[in-house]
Amino acid sequence: MHTYNVDQNGYYGEFGGAYIPEILYENVDLLKKNYLKILEDPEFQKDYHNLLRDYVGRPSPLYFAKKLSHKYGCKIYLKREDLNHTGAHKINNTIGQILLAQKMGKTRIIAETGAGQHGVATATVCALMNMKCVIYMGKVDVERQRLNVEKMQMLGAEVNPVTSGNMTLKDATNEAIRDWCSNPIDTYYIIGSTVGPHPYPDMVARLQSVISEEIRKQLFEKEHREIPDYLIACVGGGSNAAGTIYHFLNEPSVNIVLAEAAGKGINSGESAATIHLGKLGIIHGSKTLLMQSEDGQIEEPYSISAGLDYPGIGPLHAHLAKTKRSEVLAIADEEALDAAFELTRLEGIIPAIESAHALGVLKKKKFKKEEVIVICLSGRGDKDMETYIKIQKKRNG
Ligand SMILES: Cc1ncc(COP(=O)(O)O)c(C=O)c1O
Repeated sequence: MHTYNVDQNGYYGEFGGAYIPEILYENVDLLKKNYLKILEDPEFQKDYHNLLRDYVGRPSPLYFAKKLSHKYGCKIYLKREDLNHTGAHKINNTIGQILLAQKMGKTRIIAETGAGQHGVATATVCALMNMKCVIYMGKVDVERQRLNVEKMQMLGAEVNPVTSGNMTLKDATNEAIRDWCSNPIDTYYIIGSTVGPHPYPDMVARLQSVISEEIRKQLFEKEHREIPDYLIACVGGGSNAAGTIYHFLNEPSVNIVLAEAAGKGINSGESAATIHLGKLGIIHGSKTLLMQSEDGQIEEPYSISAGLDYPGIGPLHAHLAKTKRSEVLAIADEEALDAAFELTRLEGIIPAIESAHALGVLKKKKFKKEEVIVICLSGRGDKDMETYIKIQKKRNG
C-alpha cells in the first residue's frame, strides 16, 4: 500500500528531488538535515501552535453550508481558511518557516508571490519577528492584486515587480532563486507552496497539515465521523490541497478531487492546467509535470487567478494524480467566476478566485444525499474585488 510520504532523497515516486545550482548545495543540504529535527522539537511546536491559535485565529471553522448543500443534494462543509489572519491558508506556512529561519540564524527573508497572499503572509511574519523582507512579484500580478502590494509595503517589505517572461508567478520565483544564489549565507527563502527543491514540498505540506488535522476533529464533532466522502481543493503549487488531504491520504474511502485552472479552456492555448497538459521536466528545483513545448521550453501559463497561474505543480500532486489517488479536474475562468458569485449569493461569503476553482467542482460531479463533502475555502475575495467588479459589469451589460 502507498504511504505517499516523501523518500529520503526527496521523491514522491518519480517526482521531486533537489535540482539546484551548486552555490545553493550547502544551504539546501543544511535545511534537509535540520528541518524535521526543528519541526518536531517541542519548543518549536509550542511556539508554532501558540501563534496559530492567538495570532492566526486557529482552529479555522468548519462551516456547514446549508443552502449550497441543498442546491447540490449532499452535505457540504467549508473549511474556512479565508477567516485566518491575512485572509488565506498561506500564513500557516509562513509562521512555521519564519520560526525555522530564526532557529537557523538567518536575518533576511525573501519570497515569491502570485496572488500576493503569500507575499502578505511573509511580510506579516517579518514585521512580527523584525526581519528584513524582500518580495518578488510579476508585474502583471502587481497590477491585478494591487491591494496586496499596498499591504506588503505598509508592512515594511520591499516589493520588486518582475518584468521577465509573462510577468507572473514563474518569473517571480526565478528572480527569488537568483536573489538566493547571490545571498546564500544570511538569506532564508520562504517558499509559498509545495514546490521547489526537497525538503520544501514536504516541509510546506507538514506546516499546512494542520488543516486536515482540524478537519478530522471538527467533522467528528459535527457528523460523528472523522472521514468525509470527498475532499475538494484547488491546486496552484498545491499547498492548501496538501494541507487538506495530508491526514486522509491513507484512508482509501476518501475521494480526493482537485481543481486546477483551465483558464480559457484546456485546449485553448491559454490555460494553467499543468496536470492535464504537463510532461516530465524540471522547474524551480524539482522534477515534476511541467507545461512545455515539443523542444522542452516552458510554456507560459494563463489563468484569471494569479495564485493558480503556474506552469508546474508540486511533486506530491504529480504523484497522486499519476497513481490515481487524486482526480484532477480543470476548471475554466468562467466556471470559477460562476461558482464565486453563487457562493456569495447563497452563503454570503466572497471567496478568493483561487478557491472559487475548488467550488467549480460541485457542478462537475454527482453526489448522493448522505455524502459528506469538505471543500477547502483557501482564501477570501477582498484581493479579487477589482476582477469581480469588472466581470459583474460585463455580465450585466
Ligand atoms: C487564496 C489562495 N488559494 C490558493 C492558492 C494556490 O496556492 P496553493 O496551491 O499552494 O494552495 C493561492 C496562491 O496564491 C491563494 O492565494
